[in-house]
Amino acid sequence: MKKDYHRETKLMHAGRNPDDYFGVVNPPICRTSTILYKDMAAYFDPNTKFRYGRIGNPLSHAFEEAVSELEGGYNAITAPSGFCAISTTFFAFLKAGDHVLIVDSCYPPTRFFANKQLRDFGVEVEFYDPMIGADIKNLIRGNTALIYLESPSSATFEVQDVPAIVKVAKECGVITIMDNTYSAGVLFRPLEHGINISVQSAAKYIGGHSDVNLGFVVADNATNYKILKSCAVNLGVCAAAEDLYLAMRGLRTLEMRLEHAGRNMLPILEWFKTRPEVQELYSPVLETSRGHDIWKRDFSGANGIFSVLFNPKYSMDDIARFVDALELFPVGSSWGGYESLVQPQDMKEYRDNWDKDGVFIRFQIGNENTKDLIADLEQSIGDLTC
Ligand SMILES: Cc1ncc(COP(=O)(O)O)c(C=O)c1O
Repeated sequence: MKKDYHRETKLMHAGRNPDDYFGVVNPPICRTSTILYKDMAAYFDPNTKFRYGRIGNPLSHAFEEAVSELEGGYNAITAPSGFCAISTTFFAFLKAGDHVLIVDSCYPPTRFFANKQLRDFGVEVEFYDPMIGADIKNLIRGNTALIYLESPSSATFEVQDVPAIVKVAKECGVITIMDNTYSAGVLFRPLEHGINISVQSAAKYIGGHSDVNLGFVVADNATNYKILKSCAVNLGVCAAAEDLYLAMRGLRTLEMRLEHAGRNMLPILEWFKTRPEVQELYSPVLETSRGHDIWKRDFSGANGIFSVLFNPKYSMDDIARFVDALELFPVGSSWGGYESLVQPQDMKEYRDNWDKDGVFIRFQIGNENTKDLIADLEQSIGDLTC
């Protein structure tokens, strides 16, 4: 673009070029494996833009341009899921003999992947406390190649001191990678804080309608992008056309949906604060939350998820009666869509040393009227004590 517009403005244009499509506003779904060359000279031309659909095509290219703008990065790769984006990133930047530091509160499949695939490939895996900050220096070894962050975490929402960790990483020449799915590139922009690589699942707020499987990785510079891209090509990583289209469409309304979700979540959280059935609440907006001050310092807001640890006197059967009585909160394993959900969490999957009793449930607040949501909770919570 000619002018240096504000970010919101740039995001309305990123990845779009209507002149390429007879004025069509959105880059259309591009289904392609084969890409034809007009002649032999084009085949051998190193500057030919697209060669094979899996490696890149007009829509994946447009999406990568848009998410690079969103995260403020150099360039991006897309993957068929958020988790594939995460695993590809680990494969890209690690080799046998390396040591990797992974935040202990990470999304459980990240932990499973590290404990199985990374260890099997000869990588030394160590988990660190999310509140470690600058003390991460004490864990750096001669062979530490990578520090992996996720902030806030997606069940207990600890907020990490990213600038303090980045400072140590830079001093020690260690690459930093952050799962930024919570923020969707809106509430926090890791690359602006010195993180090298930002990874996201686009199945959450970017897709926003519970119908997309997609992930992406944004690199801070050309060197890191090249490492990522060549690994993605070697692993055969590519994304489906419809998912790219839907996620691209979601990007245009991302910011207002996220803001709305963050606003809608607050009265529900307040309601839970008044409930005697609750042992502990988890959300970065709460002063009691680990890293709340860092969240206030570094983040522009919260999204629509929070968690409840119920009083241990309620069994899983009691909580199931409450959840099953809810009309507006079906049980579902995700978040970031337009609809409210609940998801029971096995906290032992999140943390080796989780020692709290009580059923743990994550709430995803959608776009329903919050008065209806509270009325539903109010009416169903009675079932706990029946
Ligand atoms: C924080 C976080 N990161 C990554 C993922 C993985 O995303 P996907 O489901 O698109 O593979 C999830 C999915 O729930 C998540 O919550």
